[in-house]
Amino acid sequence: METFKTIIEPFRIKSVEPVHLSTPEQRAGYLESAHYNPFLLKSEQVIIDFLTDSGTSAMSSRQWAAIMQADESYAGASSWERFESAIQDLTGMPHVLPTHQGRAAERILYGHLGGKGKYFISNTHFDTTRANIEYSGANAIDIPVQEALDMDSSYPFKGNMDVQQLEKHVAGLGAKNISGVILTVTNNTGGGQPASMKNAREVSAVCRKHGILFILDACRIAENAYFIHEKEAGYTGSSFKSIAQEMCSLADACVMSAKKDALVNMGGFLALRSNELAAACTQLLIITEGYTTYGGLSGRDMEAVAVGLEEVFDPSYLKYRITSTTYLGEHIRKLGVPVVFPIGGHAVYVNARMLYPHIPVHEYPGQALVCELYRKGGIRSVEVGSVMFGKYDADKKLIPAAMDLVRLAIPRRVYTQSHIDYVVEVFEKIIAGKNNTSGYKITWEPEFLRHFTAHFEPVH
Ligand code: F0G
Repeated sequence: METFKTIIEPFRIKSVEPVHLSTPEQRAGYLESAHYNPFLLKSEQVIIDFLTDSGTSAMSSRQWAAIMQADESYAGASSWERFESAIQDLTGMPHVLPTHQGRAAERILYGHLGGKGKYFISNTHFDTTRANIEYSGANAIDIPVQEALDMDSSYPFKGNMDVQQLEKHVAGLGAKNISGVILTVTNNTGGGQPASMKNAREVSAVCRKHGILFILDACRIAENAYFIHEKEAGYTGSSFKSIAQEMCSLADACVMSAKKDALVNMGGFLALRSNELAAACTQLLIITEGYTTYGGLSGRDMEAVAVGLEEVFDPSYLKYRITSTTYLGEHIRKLGVPVVFPIGGHAVYVNARMLYPHIPVHEYPGQALVCELYRKGGIRSVEVGSVMFGKYDADKKLIPAAMDLVRLAIPRRVYTQSHIDYVVEVFEKIIAGKNNTSGYKITWEPEFLRHFTAHFEPVH
């Protein structure tokens, strides 16, 4: 096939939404009013919103058309049937429980399986996954592969789980105390890095051998399938969907936030093989989400998911999606911006501690970059470092996170190539001004999840 340098979006735009442009002076004022925490900005003060790829997708005309045809019946709606069969087709699992978003599926599953003395093991637990597990009284253990810790290694599957460590934990803790092993694809917290089929197969084999439940967190399974197709031997001839189906076939359960790879603004599900587990989880579903044929969703939400799960495996969509993220990551890397490498599927992660070596960790280099990106270009991103994960010791001294990263998460089908080029240009200004960028101090913070609402002030 002929190849071109320019990435073109494999869609045309039928409906547009204005982006409110602003000047650096206006943004300086907005940022001060938001206490230097971009979570507190109004979305109309933002030019490019890279806060999250979750629930921010643009839906297609086919999805909107399906929405208009939705059946809103309480029980047995035809929209439910379409939703259920799309998920059964993907996962190969007979039981589908609809939920309003991913964490509701997590609450049901981990609430039921968890409890004091129980353990869950994962490549890396996403924060809501860990929170639901710990809330049940159980423990969450992360065992990413060693390669994942080396930011510059070009190892293609840094989302893999360390299988040797898994065996060790099973031997040490006892299989009966391990309620589940969770493979998150792609590994969001670990930089949006993919896990290989080989790894999923090995993890599955360990789980089967010891009778442990193997759970797939499938939020970004289509993006993960793209990487397997491109980088794992034996998959170039397979379709993206068949790769995703094969991965699901290795698991006993699947949780998915449809807000990512199902290309919708709200939704999720839990899919299960076991009749007994499904019966227990269905009880919880009815108590907290809704009746079995809608869970936390309206008929129109279910229609949009059914169509989205088809569209996401379109080869031209996936190629555009991953190529666009890679383009952003590689271009800012060329400018000298330290990024987590290789570039992941849904986001580019910048190492702010390396970008700003003159800003001490207790002055939050990640927050400094988040503020600079907004001030210079109106770009909203999120700190994934010592603001999000830092703790205090007994003397109120900061115990920093392992890394101070900033995540630029790219919404699906929302921004065009020129938006991405604009972001690269903003990074040129970030690099030019990097030595004059100063750190931040926290002036107010809540007890839990402080990154959402904390107030900051520049140090100098
Ligand atoms: N699992 C993973 C891997 C996720 O990335 C998320 C959400 C969830 C579960 C929870 O799903 O939000 O529908 O309840 N990630 C979003 C993000 C919030 O910005 O990365 P949810």
